Amino acid sequence: MGEGGDPAGAADAGRPVSAAELFDGLGITYEEAFGRLPAQSDAVDWLAARLAPGSRVLDVGSGTGRPVAERLADAGFEVTGIDVSRVMVELARAQVPKARFEQCDVRDFTPEGGFDAVCSFFPLLMMTRAEASAALRRMAGWLVPGGYLVSATVPADVEDAEVEWMGRRVRVSSCSTDAYLRLLREDCNLEVLHHSVSLFLPDGDLAAPEEHLFCYARRRGGGAAGSEGAAGSEGAAGSEGAAGWGGRETRGRVGQ
Ligand SMILES: C[S@@+](CC[C@H](N)C(=O)[O-])C[C@H]1O[C@@H](n2cnc3c(N)ncnc32)[C@H](O)[C@@H]1O
Repeated sequence: MGEGGDPAGAADAGRPVSAAELFDGLGITYEEAFGRLPAQSDAVDWLAARLAPGSRVLDVGSGTGRPVAERLADAGFEVTGIDVSRVMVELARAQVPKARFEQCDVRDFTPEGGFDAVCSFFPLLMMTRAEASAALRRMAGWLVPGGYLVSATVPADVEDAEVEWMGRRVRVSSCSTDAYLRLLREDCNLEVLHHSVSLFLPDGDLAAPEEHLFCYARRRGGGAAGSEGAAGSEGAAGSEGAAGWGGRETRGRVGQ
């Protein structure tokens, strides 16, 4: 399937496009549109500054491997990426030979051993809320004590909403910033060290402006870090409510 084509005939079949179909179709176009997010760059720097050399990092929904897996592998960490899209995994393997990539749905993934950090940048949005919550809980469980979960999502109080995204009609679910933080703290039993909401403004016309929520959290216990300084302390920054699916949602349920 080429860029701009009907992802695997899903529309003809009258069923929602799956994440694998969507990202198989987007391929490198995703990186062209979203590969330079300042808040993601800050998150990777924050994480890299806290990990010991050789730490094991899992990148869930690793996409093209750039920038996250590439930067972490270049920094000397042992990086595994998993992604449900065959095309994304092929791109990542070609672009980031220092990391290991596996084509796998995070809902089916069972790691061997724990991770010092798990990155989860935007892989959960095409799941139901219940599936996304369960996936985050599992990721938290893959962390060694003191390990970090660094994650990002689009904060929007929507469930099974049809939106236009990168020129495709897709069905998405997400939750508000407060609900996401509650999920990390209460369901995943993580300590949230920092969160920020930023407005992503694309360079070109491949994507539209959207809000991004980045959270840095840590599993309790273990010897890592101790008390965090100002840069790592819990706090919110950026704009709330400026743009996002809540405003563009056309079908489906909005509100909890
Ligand atoms: C929005 S992209 C983000 C890519 C990358 N994390 C980044 O921030 O540059 C979401 C990625 O998650 C992957 N993904 C979506 N659902 C997934 C699932 N259930 N299991 C594993 N990967 C998934 C997609 O194929 C896609 O590559």
